[in-house]
Amino acid sequence: MSDFWASRRVLVTGAGGFLGTAVRDALGPRAPKELIAPSSTEVDLRRADAVDAMVAKHRPDLIIHLAASVGGIGANRERPADLYLDNLLMGTFVLDSARRFEVPKTVVVGTICSYPKYTEVPFKENSLWQGYPEETNAPYGIAKLAQLVQVQANRAQYGQNAIYLMPTNLYGPGDKFNPAVSHVIPALIKKTVDAVESGADHIEVWGTGSASREFLYVDDAAEGILLASELYDDGDPVNLGTDEERPIRDLVEMIAELVGFEGEIRWDTTKPDGQPRRRVDPSRARERFGFEAKVRFEDGLRRTIDWYRANREAAEARVH
Ligand SMILES: NC(=O)c1ccc[n+]([C@@H]2O[C@H](COP(=O)([O-])OP(=O)(O)OC[C@H]3O[C@@H](n4cnc5c(N)ncnc54)[C@H](OP(=O)(O)O)[C@@H]3O)[C@@H](O)[C@H]2O)c1
Repeated sequence: MSDFWASRRVLVTGAGGFLGTAVRDALGPRAPKELIAPSSTEVDLRRADAVDAMVAKHRPDLIIHLAASVGGIGANRERPADLYLDNLLMGTFVLDSARRFEVPKTVVVGTICSYPKYTEVPFKENSLWQGYPEETNAPYGIAKLAQLVQVQANRAQYGQNAIYLMPTNLYGPGDKFNPAVSHVIPALIKKTVDAVESGADHIEVWGTGSASREFLYVDDAAEGILLASELYDDGDPVNLGTDEERPIRDLVEMIAELVGFEGEIRWDTTKPDGQPRRRVDPSRARERFGFEAKVRFEDGLRRTIDWYRANREAAEARVH
């Protein structure tokens, strides 16, 4: 470990969330000078005065901005306005406050939901502006992408050191399993585990199964964020991914097998597939700060299923 961290007060927004917990765990052995991790009840980042008060009070050397309103296709369809405005306000205020209080570095975490619906696969960072995102997650994706514009504009005008990272779909222990907000992997794990327990002879799954996704283990994403915090100081956005793409159909079969569900899988084709394909080009992260994902997908899935089985109540209670 370098001594980068020993001299820095690190403020992590969204530190109590899924990715935030993994980032805190990864920060542990790096032993920053101070770790500041306010919850949303302590600081509502949608309020400019609250963000200013937080930054003025703690005077961090590094802000890692993870806080967001997020959800799977269901949440994006039901609450597009909240997902748009919450994320736009939080990102805007955090970056602006960091600039005015001269925070030496700010790391903003975006999302691959910002990519255009039809993008050449693998997604390269240079294609971000070539079209509109997939409709169901566009309000979320656009609000997050506005933060890239702010990062680059603030760099150009004020010389603010801010960077912008885009993890692909995350999974792992600590994920949200409440159907109101869960993403595809926890949703499928819950469905299959419930079916095994109730003895159901089938499960219903959204879409056609033909869409494909890439999944990054949450601890790998946390490592990527900390590597970039330490080693990357440029305005170009950077994907964090694995370069592995899986059809949802294969994913469902893999989860069913790991969970031990042997019944029928029925596809509800009245429900949307979301973006047709997703896989990012991970080469920029490798070249600029040496990031490579380490956890094999099957190992990560096993750990996630084990964690869910051991923590069901808490995993299903969390809605953000
Ligand atoms: N999950 C994924 O697959 C994925 C993929 C790519 C990118 N990302 C990005 O990664 C980041 C973390 O996502 P996640 O999955 O870890 O989300 P999460 O588990 O829902 O955590 C979100 C965090 O944001 C905080 N937050 C929400 N509203 C807030 C507000 N008004 N004021 C202050 N804090 C607020 C929450 O704080 P409290 O818990 O205190 O309420 C929570 O800790 C987000 O920026 C997301 O866009 C996620």
